[in-house]
Amino acid sequence: KVQHRLLVANWKMNGSVALVQTMNETLADISLSAVDVVICPPLTLLHHFTVQGNVQLGAQNISQHNAGAYTGEISADLLLEAAVTYVIIGHSERRTLNLETDEQIAAKVKVAVQAGLIPILCIGETLQQRQQEKTEQVIARQLDAVYASQPELLAKSVIAYEPIWAIGTGESASPEQAQATHAFIRDHLAKLDKEAASNIKLLYGGSVNGDNCSALFAQPDINGALVGGASLKAAEFAQICSSA
Ligand code: G3H
Repeated sequence: KVQHRLLVANWKMNGSVALVQTMNETLADISLSAVDVVICPPLTLLHHFTVQGNVQLGAQNISQHNAGAYTGEISADLLLEAAVTYVIIGHSERRTLNLETDEQIAAKVKVAVQAGLIPILCIGETLQQRQQEKTEQVIARQLDAVYASQPELLAKSVIAYEPIWAIGTGESASPEQAQATHAFIRDHLAKLDKEAASNIKLLYGGSVNGDNCSALFAQPDINGALVGGASLKAAEFAQICSSA
């Protein structure tokens, strides 16, 4: 059974040096012994963070290439040199706005694991897909695209379920909806690697805040959260971490 909960802050293209300082001070003031916290700020802010206690650093993207003529991209080695330990891969915003494909995402997860980074693979359905009762089909496809041909990566991964209709909308999935999908994800992964599936951390993401986090964390297959907007408010993020 999964023990420590994992709280990941995805700042997206937000934040500032001042916010990093506030977050450093706020997190230093609370007890984080029962939770792992990962902050994924824009790359230029990484070195301003204090890696303290259970607080680690993450990136929001990674190149599938090791080095070379890839303007604007960032490699696994560069992230490791910046003390990064986790990397978000396949966020719906990158799938939609940067046209990332399942194949590229699978390659990125492989590169991350090979380098010793922990990938946080994001999956999730659109509102239309949910209304058409295609949620499980979509999620199974997104998981299979990465793990069916490389199941050995599963034991080194974290998965974040983010229904696209819940991201940044203020409308979180209900704890029951999220739990049902998380249970489906775990069952589906068990077909590839039973032990990895029972140990893997499944994060929920999509309008998680200080008010709804406790009910989400009470669900048996929700092992943490990927927090966007609320992670930009130091006090609220600290409260979410304390509830986990
Ligand atoms: O990566 C984080 C998610 O996209 C959730 O964002 O908490 O602002 O809805 P949100």
